[in-house]
Amino acid sequence: MAVILALESSCDDSAAALVTSDRQIIAQGVIGQAERHAPFGGVVPEIAARAHAEILPDLVRQVLVDADMEPGDVDAIAATAGPGLVGGVMVGLLAGKGLALATGKPLIAVNHLEGHALSPRLTDPDLDFPYLLLLASGGHCQLLEVRGVDDYRRLATTIDDAAGEAFDKAAKLMGLGYPGGPAVEELAKQGDPEAVPLPRPLVGSGEPHFSFAGLKSAVQRAVVADQHSHADIAASFQQAVVDCFVDRTRIALDKSDAPALVVAGGVAANQSVRGALEALAAEHDRRFSVPPLWLCTDNAAMIGWAGAERFAAGLTDPLDTPARARWPLDRQAEKVRGAGVKA
Ligand code: KG4
Ligand code: ZN
Repeated sequence: MAVILALESSCDDSAAALVTSDRQIIAQGVIGQAERHAPFGGVVPEIAARAHAEILPDLVRQVLVDADMEPGDVDAIAATAGPGLVGGVMVGLLAGKGLALATGKPLIAVNHLEGHALSPRLTDPDLDFPYLLLLASGGHCQLLEVRGVDDYRRLATTIDDAAGEAFDKAAKLMGLGYPGGPAVEELAKQGDPEAVPLPRPLVGSGEPHFSFAGLKSAVQRAVVADQHSHADIAASFQQAVVDCFVDRTRIALDKSDAPALVVAGGVAANQSVRGALEALAAEHDRRFSVPPLWLCTDNAAMIGWAGAERFAAGLTDPLDTPARARWPLDRQAEKVRGAGVKA
């Protein structure tokens, strides 16, 4: 059994964890920075990088104390090396390199998206490769065939905004806090999902790509028109996103014979999204898997688990591995207009 010490710092959550190759999470901690960024209405990269530098050393110490372990007791150090806000990524990756150097243990440079992509296997031991993955987070919205560790085929991506970004922008337009996803979901509970007619961009098109920019503009018009309650707008917006997810994923299911459907990333914490994708999987006779809520949003346990999977496959990295703002999982995937512009 291998023990991995993992660090995550790609956006606005500082996280550390100790995870084993037999799926135990020995200790973990996540410290969000939401209140530091709230006055600016979004994540400020420079503030995030400084905050990671302040928070991570204590967090690493804390998980080691909780586990009653010394740094030298672990088998490898895993750190997120991208994609994300590169200042923050550098802080966590450098901390990981320092730990690797001091302990003589190998470094594993983890792609944050692979962390999300493999996260369901941490809590669902029966989930085998290959599986079709809807990866929906603050920076990405993709459909991927996960064929194995370090082996991905992208079937679709967003041509403009990410799904989580759309939730965050809708929330901002309605004066809700950041991050917007949980706030929109909460408000949507009191609203009517059919009250506001909103577009479903790209629904019906043959390639399973996503687009959310037009939906965001429609939400803006609805807010300005002031004819519907914010609860009705939130519920109708959430329903539109769910409808896009279901329609686009249905096309991808027709293109893939992977026996399981998985949804992961921050937006997978949304109950309507989870329910709709579960029903879609049942309709297509596929197994369904989704990580528990805490494992959907950013955390270091998923980085530790991806580290454990890579370590088992003999994939370790040199100490001069760079931090990367952009880092596609499928290196062969064609560029799609407008896609992948943001981290
Ligand atoms: O995976 P994640 O924590 O960070 C990135 O890698 O981006 O995803 C964060 C995104 C944010 O946009 C947030 O608003 C969204 O996930 N999110 C949600 C929910 N919880 C988080 N979106 C919809 N419903 C939720 N319950
Ligand atoms: Zn993430």
